[in-house]
Amino acid sequence: MEKIVILTGAGISAESGLGTFRDEGGLWSRHPIEDVATPEGFARDPALVQGFYNARRVQAARAQPNAAHRALARLQRNWPGEVVIVTQNVDSLHEAGGAQGVIHMHGTLAGALCAACGHRWPAPDEMAVGEPCPACTRPTARPDVVWFGEMPYHMDEIYDHLAGASIFAAIGTSGQVYPAAAFVHEAIAAGARTVELNLEPSAGVSSFDETVFGPATQVVPAWVDGLLGQR
Ligand code: APR
Repeated sequence: MEKIVILTGAGISAESGLGTFRDEGGLWSRHPIEDVATPEGFARDPALVQGFYNARRVQAARAQPNAAHRALARLQRNWPGEVVIVTQNVDSLHEAGGAQGVIHMHGTLAGALCAACGHRWPAPDEMAVGEPCPACTRPTARPDVVWFGEMPYHMDEIYDHLAGASIFAAIGTSGQVYPAAAFVHEAIAAGARTVELNLEPSAGVSSFDETVFGPATQVVPAWVDGLLGQR
């Protein structure tokens, strides 16, 4: 049975009230990436970085999944083959919408990581500078998110899924950050049909067999209905 691999980005959570990064007024227009999303920025000013992620963690915890998140969970429940969701997002809205086995390649706001011993645990709402690691007790807790210059998580698993994909969809991503922006090429190499569902053309739009433009809460449920109806 056909395997579906889906890559999502900030656009799928936009209608849940979580800002995107590169849209007008997006997160990166208010916070320079090098200050809040790099290891160097964290070393330079840990209070600024912990504060940035504390605010995003509280906001994400308050957000509700939208019809697009729920539609992908419905696809997972009703599609006879495997449906794998790989997300660049650090919110937990796919899970809140009922999705299973979501692969967070950029980590999660809900997770804490010890920079010294690698221990992971559920992040407190407000992570303090010098928060001690519960395992090694050193003051080296950080958000378990992937910063620029760091390796995204679960890449081997993701490439395995792409190698077996019959359908690849990119939803709500601008296609400007690698390695995620190259996943469509892996899917094409695997012989998959590819579709982009986005508010506007992404940087990689020309690579896709099909593109559907519109807000995710409209185009994603319609796309899922189409897939499930065609069976
Ligand atoms: N419905 C569908 N798409 C939308 C919506 C919406 N309601 N609102 C915005 N979009 C689209 C935008 O057109 C844009 O193409 O979502 C995309 C968001 O792009 P970015 O802000 O660049 O977010 P993303 O692609 O997820 O960024 C990738 O970059 O900054 C890093 O680690 C961060 O995971 C992030 C990565």
